[in-house]
Amino acid sequence: MKITGSTALVTGANRGIGLAIARALLAAGAAKVYAGARDPKSVTDDRLTAVKLDVTSEDDIAAAAELASDVDIVVNNAGVSGPEAQLLTGSLDVARAVMETNVFGPWRITRAFAPILAANGGGALVNVLSAGSWAAMSAAPAYTASKAAEWSLTNAFRLGLAKQGTLVVGVHSGFVDTDLSSKVRATKISAEDLADQVVRALAEDRAEVLADDFTVATRRALADGVEAMQAITPFAG
Ligand SMILES: NC(=O)c1ccc[n+]([C@@H]2O[C@H](COP(=O)([O-])OP(=O)(O)OC[C@H]3O[C@@H](n4cnc5c(N)ncnc54)[C@H](OP(=O)(O)O)[C@@H]3O)[C@@H](O)[C@H]2O)c1
Repeated sequence: MKITGSTALVTGANRGIGLAIARALLAAGAAKVYAGARDPKSVTDDRLTAVKLDVTSEDDIAAAAELASDVDIVVNNAGVSGPEAQLLTGSLDVARAVMETNVFGPWRITRAFAPILAANGGGALVNVLSAGSWAAMSAAPAYTASKAAEWSLTNAFRLGLAKQGTLVVGVHSGFVDTDLSSKVRATKISAEDLADQVVRALAEDRAEVLADDFTVATRRALADGVEAMQAITPFAG
């Protein structure tokens, strides 16, 4: 799709990958980028148009859809990792909250913005997923389960929005150097690198981004069976 002159909304755009994607869209010629944030004051780049948008809030989403009715690119980026949710013990409340943000958030946003994308010519929907969509981690079960669910939902959106001509892009990456992965010691790519890959995929009408070697290997191992998947899974145990 043509990025020059486009109008985009990015959720969770006050920091991390969301901010990098918002800036990369501007650099590629987007005319306007709405930066969704739980606290609009946390959007400090004045080239961005801050919008109050907690993706778990129906009211915020409805207000954002009214305000940003000119968008032709929607990026579901906001996400949480919920490190407190343990596999075998403890409350499942954190896991539910992770699902609320990472799965039901993008679902709600997409429902609200699908008619807007349709009215504006089809446009594009980008979902920021993870290599964790495929590689489960026992130390982050809520997170990887949420990304697997969000991947499935992304595929459902691709089918459901095909008729209106919306390009649906699933973005998968291993670790990215942001607050979310700050406690992880592992190879990371930069948020700016990932953002550039997202913008390239949009410009080339590609439905999937596999951002790093780990993600490419994970995707391949998926076809080779569970033993192959387990062999490459980080932090198994
Ligand atoms: N970092 C990685 O290693 C990595 C790898 C692959 C994929 N991802 C995915 O990339 C996306 C962005 O992650 P990141 O690494 O940039 O994390 P981050 O630096 O922790 O930023 C998370 C962003 O999501 C926002 N957010 C969280 N809950 C929200 C809610 N309910 N409503 C609206 N915004 C909310 C945060 O806003 P506040 O400032 O208000 O908290 C923040 O802007 C996530 O979907 C994540 O799963 C990350």
